[in-house]
Amino acid sequence: MLQDSFGRLHTYLRISLTDQCNFRCQYCLPDESETFMPPHQLMQAKEVMQLAEVFCKMGITKIRITGGEPLIRKDATSIIQQLSTLPVSLHISTNGTRIHTLLPLLQKGSISSVNISLDSLDAATFRQITRRNVFQLIVNNIDLLLQYNIPVKINAVIIKGINDHEINDFVAWTKRAPIHIRFIEFMPFTYNQWSHEQVYTCQGILAQIQQQYILMPAVDSAGNTAQTYTLPGHQGTVGVISTISQPFCSTCNRIRLTADGKMKNCLFSAGETDLLTALREGRDVASLIQQNLLGKAAERGGQFTAMPAQLNVATLQNRSMIAIGG
Ligand code: GTP
Ligand code: 5AD
Ligand code: SF4
Repeated sequence: MLQDSFGRLHTYLRISLTDQCNFRCQYCLPDESETFMPPHQLMQAKEVMQLAEVFCKMGITKIRITGGEPLIRKDATSIIQQLSTLPVSLHISTNGTRIHTLLPLLQKGSISSVNISLDSLDAATFRQITRRNVFQLIVNNIDLLLQYNIPVKINAVIIKGINDHEINDFVAWTKRAPIHIRFIEFMPFTYNQWSHEQVYTCQGILAQIQQQYILMPAVDSAGNTAQTYTLPGHQGTVGVISTISQPFCSTCNRIRLTADGKMKNCLFSAGETDLLTALREGRDVASLIQQNLLGKAAERGGQFTAMPAQLNVATLQNRSMIAIGG
């Protein structure tokens, strides 16, 4: 059983397959001087499976594949195929560029749902954020997933002055299609040029939506990142992920495994445990996992307080988002 010192049960494992991405979103990328992980430091396909098996025996029932962009890894679909044989529900977070590689797995039912990062519904703004000109490809791929009846959530990080004027355009989409939009507060990571002034809080997001729509609170499953709302006559739902203004750590059920095989017990944890080296050296991985989990802080890795107005990102002891996996 994966229980921390606060009694929180951990059943959800996020596995990053790579720290590389085919987009260049500023809010996620590391500083130019930070290098990507060398190949020998990455978990090999067999090692991903071996570590996942240990976690499953300890109580993990849900696995999410993350990156960087997980689907740019050449053996991503074969790793996902292998993970799908474990007694877990399997999910993926992707930028949506390589959905075609997933279709056979989706048709077989190997993956239960897909979360797609899409921060703008305007091609020019999309290009400004991602520095890639593939907006229409992403929209087409989302349509494709819906045609196959795959549950799709859209993740939109809302940043003041960049895309906060588009919130109700996203909401309008949930009327036309069975799509689940989650608006995410901009979070601080090493090198991501975060400032408190740029955070558009969930309170502001909900207020903006309520000027045009009726929101009805839904009942979320325990450990959900989002507070979800349904809207009368809409096929989809709307949610907010309020890590900055209203952290939801008291129900946290997540553990992370980075692409280089390090365990992080929180998105913001400073300490990491090198499970990959332990596996390669034949040491007891399960006891290292237990030990790491017992050191989990109550809230946000113990790194910042309620409304981090004065937070200096340079003092954060963490990786860049792309090297964590969200
Ligand atoms: P579901 O499993 O569908 O609920 O997705 P998810 O929200 O767990 O994962 P996803 O990869 O779609 O991430 C959406 C946003 O939530 C991203 O900004 C993540 O960084 C953030 N997020 C994911 N897990 C956690 C978490 O444990 N804590 C916090 N604070 N944010 C998280
Ligand atoms: N703040 C909030 N969410 C972020 N993501 C990446 N960087 C940040 C950040 N600084 C989101 C991505 C993706 C998810 C895994 O994490 O948009 O949807
Ligand atoms: Fe869990 Fe850390 Fe996220 Fe809080 S910030 S919900 S403790 S992963």
